[in-house]
Amino acid sequence: GLVNTREMFKKAMEGKYAIPAYNFNNLEQLQAIIQACVETKSPVILQVSKGARQYANATMLRYMAMGAVEYAKELGYEIPIALHLDHGDTFELCKACVDNGFSSVMIDGSHLPFEENIELTRKVVEYAHQFDVTVEGELGVLAGIEEDVQAEKSHYTNPDEVEEFVERTGVDSLAISIGTSHGAYKFKVKPGEPIPPLRFDILEEIEKRLPGFPIVLHGASSVIPEYVELINKYGGNLEGAVGIPEDQLRKAATSAVCKINIDSDGRLAFTAKVREFLWNNPKEFDPRKYLKPAREELVKMYKHKNINVLGSANKA
Ligand code: G3H
Ligand code: 13P
Ligand code: ZN
Repeated sequence: GLVNTREMFKKAMEGKYAIPAYNFNNLEQLQAIIQACVETKSPVILQVSKGARQYANATMLRYMAMGAVEYAKELGYEIPIALHLDHGDTFELCKACVDNGFSSVMIDGSHLPFEENIELTRKVVEYAHQFDVTVEGELGVLAGIEEDVQAEKSHYTNPDEVEEFVERTGVDSLAISIGTSHGAYKFKVKPGEPIPPLRFDILEEIEKRLPGFPIVLHGASSVIPEYVELINKYGGNLEGAVGIPEDQLRKAATSAVCKINIDSDGRLAFTAKVREFLWNNPKEFDPRKYLKPAREELVKMYKHKNINVLGSANKA
């Protein structure tokens, strides 16, 4: 069955790698994640966002995740699989997911004042832990592309707050803000300009305050240039799309960062291949025909992440 993240994170901390947390909304994404993680013998966290629940239906997603556990066995190798709510924004949503068979939830109170974040997060922890469901909290707000440098800085996680937050909430892991952001436009840089490095100094400070405690990195897509180019070549327009360089993520994975969230790279790989196929095969209209190459590309990409970026391959 599904497992929570406790054991996964313990091993990832000791082994200096990170567990992949891949978002899914549909069948093809889920199949690709499972195939890639079975073939690389990697544990995996399947992430469902609020938007994904609305898109695919909560019941559908739950049974899909349960089906994924069986599918993994069918593929010939058992891997630990967690079903995790990504960016839960209310107690009610987190409770609904706990009640609905999720093995892990995130309560994202990062936009709230410190005390309110603690109060909301503690309430979710108290409920979830009764059912052995693990909880991820967040401190610090991920930088937005529109904000100026000064505003971004003030949103980094404050290391002075992490100990009290973890102690008073009882969370099992903590998402932090050290320079990543969501989506495909993470930095405003011109082509050829260097991408600002992640704030490893802040991460180190957090590690000192919380020795051995699992840290989570959101907004960790690399916005793989090959896919951006393909999309732009076949009718798309993603000018200025840029992400976190792989070497930065590799470095983070060897630290207390035990979970790395990747969604956008999957969307880009999928879209690139669908666009390419339809452009080259204007007479095709069978979704299986154009979704298959997209799914195959996803498998390739997730395997690459597990093996070369997160270091989670052969850890299951
Ligand atoms: O953090 C956001 C995730 O990439 C999920 O995105 O809310 O569009 O499903 P979504
Ligand atoms: P990306 O947009 O960088 O893939 O981040 C995904 C994420 O953090 C999901 O919670
Ligand atoms: Zn996120």
